[in-house]
Amino acid sequence: MTKPKCILAIESSCDDTSAAVIREGSLLSNVTHTQEVHKNFGGVVPELASRSHLSAILPVIDEALRKANCAKEEIEAVAVTRGPGLMGSLLVGVSMAKGLALGWNIPLIEVHHMEAHIMAHFIEAPHPKFPFLCLTVSGGHTQIVRVNGPASFEILGQTLDDAAGEAFDKTGKILGLPYPAGPHIDRLAQEGIVKFAFPKPQVQGLDFSFSGLKTAILYFLRLEKKKNADFVQENLNDICASVQSSIINILLGRLIEAAEREGLNEIAIAGGVSANSGLRKAAKTIANEKSWNLYIPQIQYCTDNAGMIAMAAWFRGQEELFAGLDMKPAPRLPMMH
Ligand code: KG4
Ligand code: ZN
Repeated sequence: MTKPKCILAIESSCDDTSAAVIREGSLLSNVTHTQEVHKNFGGVVPELASRSHLSAILPVIDEALRKANCAKEEIEAVAVTRGPGLMGSLLVGVSMAKGLALGWNIPLIEVHHMEAHIMAHFIEAPHPKFPFLCLTVSGGHTQIVRVNGPASFEILGQTLDDAAGEAFDKTGKILGLPYPAGPHIDRLAQEGIVKFAFPKPQVQGLDFSFSGLKTAILYFLRLEKKKNADFVQENLNDICASVQSSIINILLGRLIEAAEREGLNEIAIAGGVSANSGLRKAAKTIANEKSWNLYIPQIQYCTDNAGMIAMAAWFRGQEELFAGLDMKPAPRLPMMH
């Protein structure tokens, strides 16, 4: 097998069905169908997610090929997210990718979802220079990773319980906001002021903890609502601004510690939560103070998308790292496997 020049990539690990085409390291298309069915459930319903992937996946792939102006005969490898993610959701993407690889007689490339969030930084210039630090913040993960090369990662710290995105989403559920609440809290916080303080987690080293914050918010609101039943409605913007600021302070506090410990000033932020406008702004301010070279992808490459899978697959293809057709989706796939 040779290095593939043109790759079709598929992402279906959670609630976004996405396909992308990359040629010679340049992303030609990136089409994402976001599932709306979970909005009123306060989280992703796995069974509904897999069914929705099944109906969306073929149209999404067709659209990605059409937008890339690429005939299926030109595709030289199919890449897919192997994990981590929801088993039923991963199965849809992996089965589709295997079917295409078999039918078109081309190799299969497996991609780790969190590695792909990091490799999203290579979709558009300027790219971070190796070695760099990446704060990866999504709905399922919160990590600080030292990236030594395209396939060389060291996890320096990670969450011991909830991910940062979960902290946003669970707070949103308490506040009665639709799922996923992160973007709603972001929007509401823009009109609010930081008025309420929540205790900082007591965690050693570069690890994170967000479950205490969620409980603190729950108790705080319970107490306030006893005094004033309309407390949430009357203070929604300020509550959102305060919660968001607490989460940002925890994340960036650790990132500063990691940068100092590793002696690095090439700093990247990735994952769905890096779409947060408050985090982006606060990170830029710190970058100026600390003389960091800061990299945050465009929002469309921060949240789940197949463009990042395509980019990670491009690097793997250059190393001729292909998967067998017996590859199984792995909901808890470790980063170095
Ligand atoms: O990376 P991602 O799209 O999916 C996972 O791999 O989990 O991240 C989804 C998470 C959700 O928790 C969502 O609420 C959060 O990213 N998110 C945001 C924003 N946009 C998405 N959180 C805060 N502010 C945002 N603007
Ligand atoms: Zn993700």
